[in-house]
Amino acid sequence: MAKKPLRNRLENKVRTSKLPRKTKPVNWRAFGIVLGVVVFAVAMYQSRPEKPSGLAGMRHAPADPGKISLPIPASVPTTHQAGMKLFVENCSQCHGEWAQGTDNGPALVHDYYKPSHHADFSFYKAAQYGVRAHHWSFGDMQPVPSVTRQDMDQIIPFIRWWQRENGITG
Ligand code: HEC
Repeated sequence: MAKKPLRNRLENKVRTSKLPRKTKPVNWRAFGIVLGVVVFAVAMYQSRPEKPSGLAGMRHAPADPGKISLPIPASVPTTHQAGMKLFVENCSQCHGEWAQGTDNGPALVHDYYKPSHHADFSFYKAAQYGVRAHHWSFGDMQPVPSVTRQDMDQIIPFIRWWQRENGITG
């Protein structure tokens, strides 16, 4: 075969180089592998354990801080029975029947609420004026108009007694 004249060859070169680059056939296998790796990475990322924060991150902390498990007292001293009844009627729907906390409010048998940190005064205030959420993420506590100050005179000693029974003093 005779050699093509140089000009022709050059023209050919120029022409081919101007042609859009031939796209390579898609390598579906490689694509599949890459896609698999990405999906796996995303799945791993999403299933990673929540970052531990505060109490929840502590080893022996309850799963839901603010809610604890407490023993049920064998008996409640007669002097605290009226207070207990008032507590159950007015406070337990959020703080739990034994002040162990619920999904609506924190445990009051908790170090936060020992007398030196939350004096009786803050209990009277909580019932009368409510509480702006500041320790937890339950939201605000609304005032409890159904309890009187005299009721609180009985509720607070019951809570203090029950705190002491569970080693919350000071
Ligand atoms: C409707 C729900 C609800 C009821 C009913 C309720 N509480 Fe609360 N209470 C809360 C929540 C929520 C908080 C936590 C606010 C926070 O994040 O600090 C709270 C906080 C408190 C505090 C802490 C106050 C402070 O200064 O931090 C006291 C004390 C308290 N409650 C006492 C009572 C008593 C006593 C009763 C019954 C008379 C009662 N609560 C009824 C929801 C409730």
